[in-house]
Amino acid sequence: MTICSAPGKIFLFGEHAVVYGGFAIACAIDLRTRVSIQGSLETSITSKLGRGINRHPYVLKAIEKMKMLAGFDGVKVKIDSEIPPGSGLGSSAAVTIATLSAINMEFDVGLSDEEIAELGHSVEREIQGAASPTDTFISTMGGVVLMPSRRRLKNLDCDIVIGDTGKTSSTKELVGRVSLLRERYPDIVHMIFNAIGAITRRGEHLIEEGDCSTIGELMNINQGLLESLGVGCPELSAQIYAARDAGAFGAKITGAGGGGCMVALVSHDRAEKVAKAIEEAGGHAIKTRVTEDGCGKG
Ligand code: PMV
Repeated sequence: MTICSAPGKIFLFGEHAVVYGGFAIACAIDLRTRVSIQGSLETSITSKLGRGINRHPYVLKAIEKMKMLAGFDGVKVKIDSEIPPGSGLGSSAAVTIATLSAINMEFDVGLSDEEIAELGHSVEREIQGAASPTDTFISTMGGVVLMPSRRRLKNLDCDIVIGDTGKTSSTKELVGRVSLLRERYPDIVHMIFNAIGAITRRGEHLIEEGDCSTIGELMNINQGLLESLGVGCPELSAQIYAARDAGAFGAKITGAGGGGCMVALVSHDRAEKVAKAIEEAGGHAIKTRVTEDGCGKG
């Protein structure tokens, strides 16, 4: 039996712009999905969602891809996840990458991390129709990463508080909404994406300098631009303002928006206060940190 775990992620900057080739910075967070794999004559999958292979399309697709490389009959899969599903924290990428990795080790397939990230991206593309490589890459490699170049940046020395609205949102629908806006106002949306790109490039240097306070300020500006793209919602706004008022360096939507999660960058001594403010504003607060650890054994 092999157990592998992989992290979820947040976007510090650049979601939506990254769909059109713009810059984005995303970080692996210390919330993980653990997958155990054991060879078996038939495939079975067990998780909190229950037993049954059809509840787990990503895992099933990952198994199908690995079967072509390793030629096993089936696998017994057990999934245990700390990442809330469907909330923009990369839960599907984490379960996909942990499954691919555990099968890779269990059957000595010999895939490199880069190959696992690439295979994970193809799983997401086939299940979702379209997906950027951000989630699967970060979940495989961990750390803070500039996209699309995949350059690894320094780790952030501060805490992260996530606010989950509990309102699921469809990435596909939100990306479609931005695409319609772009068709109607190409010149304006182009400038918004350019501004997000400029923020991200500044963010890149500030991360190298470890300047969390200014990174937070830029997250707030990025949030204004995400609002202008129409991906905000009242629940997210309430939590974002509550986090800022409670002393966060900055707070914004993470991921597609329209529901899902917001993220606040905070100093260690403020994390509790910010989490409480998010809860009072109606969110479910999750305190976490950026992690260097990508997918690995255990
Ligand atoms: O909500 P998430 O974690 O699926 O992030 C979506 C981010 C987008 O930039 C909107 C789409 C993408 O594939 O990068």
